[in-house]
Amino acid sequence: MLDQTRQAATDWAAALTPADIQTPAFVYNADAVNARITALKAALGTDVIISFKASNQLDLLLRLEPDNYDGIEIASRGELHMIAGKTGPNVFINTPALNDPLVRAGISAGATFIVDTPEHLDMIARLKGKREINPVTLRLSNKIIAKICPDAPTLRDDQFGMDLDQARAAIEKARGLGLKINGLHLYAGPHTFRKAARFVVAAMTHAVREIEDALGHDLEVLNLGGGLEENWPELGHDFDSYRALLTELPGRCRLIHEFGRAIFADCGVFAVRVQQVKTVMGQPYAICDGGMAQAFLLAQTENMMRRYRVPRVLNRDVAPLPDGASTIICGSTCSRDDVIGKVAGAVEAGDVLIFDNCGAYTRTYSMNNFLQLGGADTYVV
Ligand SMILES: Cc1ncc(COP(=O)(O)O)c(C=O)c1O
Repeated sequence: MLDQTRQAATDWAAALTPADIQTPAFVYNADAVNARITALKAALGTDVIISFKASNQLDLLLRLEPDNYDGIEIASRGELHMIAGKTGPNVFINTPALNDPLVRAGISAGATFIVDTPEHLDMIARLKGKREINPVTLRLSNKIIAKICPDAPTLRDDQFGMDLDQARAAIEKARGLGLKINGLHLYAGPHTFRKAARFVVAAMTHAVREIEDALGHDLEVLNLGGGLEENWPELGHDFDSYRALLTELPGRCRLIHEFGRAIFADCGVFAVRVQQVKTVMGQPYAICDGGMAQAFLLAQTENMMRRYRVPRVLNRDVAPLPDGASTIICGSTCSRDDVIGKVAGAVEAGDVLIFDNCGAYTRTYSMNNFLQLGGADTYVV
């Protein structure tokens, strides 16, 4: 089944034609996203919610089969506005930067809060008025994983969530404020599934016991975060063993994973058109109508060692260059870091270059309007 999913996720991009696309553009395929979610649910055996920040656009969301995913996690008021038609407890609000306007909007959307600090509970209680608040989930820090499992691999430290003492303080606070707690959330961080998934489950199992003791009642929802790699179908994860591991968590609990890149990465491509090709001291450069201004992650400005992406030239085989030279693919800004790829051969003005695997974060984690160049168009096919 995973092979078929892989097929579904890539075939559609091969079928694009240059005339289809006004560049620069992101092109997403809703069927591929649906297939990805179905495959993830089968592999993990849990609910899967969409981490909207990876690909936060309504036109794609609205074309997904609504019963295929189990909720959506948003991290700002802007994202909550984008999904305005979607309300109810399966809209999860999860950000350390919770503020009054987001709390107000979240309450009126009937959303569920995943609180990052005990103080978030004060905000919710202060703003709730006479309205019912869904039971909240406590976000635990990924630091508890090393504390509970000393043999866990080192995880990149982050600022999110609470340690167990803070979580107990949150329980006390919730009691005083009349708010209910029914869930825990623990996310190890991006790209951590291979090395840390079993330690996340072990730490969660331990945390459930501690938190239920403090609460004096059972938990109902356990959210194990995201962190599955974008190319997970190729990585040969042993999902049977992972599902067996999950049975260590209380069977009465709803188990959730909230994925970004594992859902969207290869369901979207970035397309640019070559405007001009020039050769300086023998080195060919293709200057394109888009680049880091629309797809910042392709520029790899932060990396000491450049690992150039290799785009496909749409509907054309490229001719080799003398001495096996490559064409360096550049974006449209005046930054020398606006180098987004390399093609082993000659490209021509008018060629459309397709960068695969740009469906997650590439658009959303991009700068806003450097040189007033404008954003990319988006297409959902
Ligand atoms: C709270 C939370 N959940 C889930 C995700 C999605 O992570 P991934 O794309 O690794 O699945 C993120 C990403 O930043 C996140 O912050």
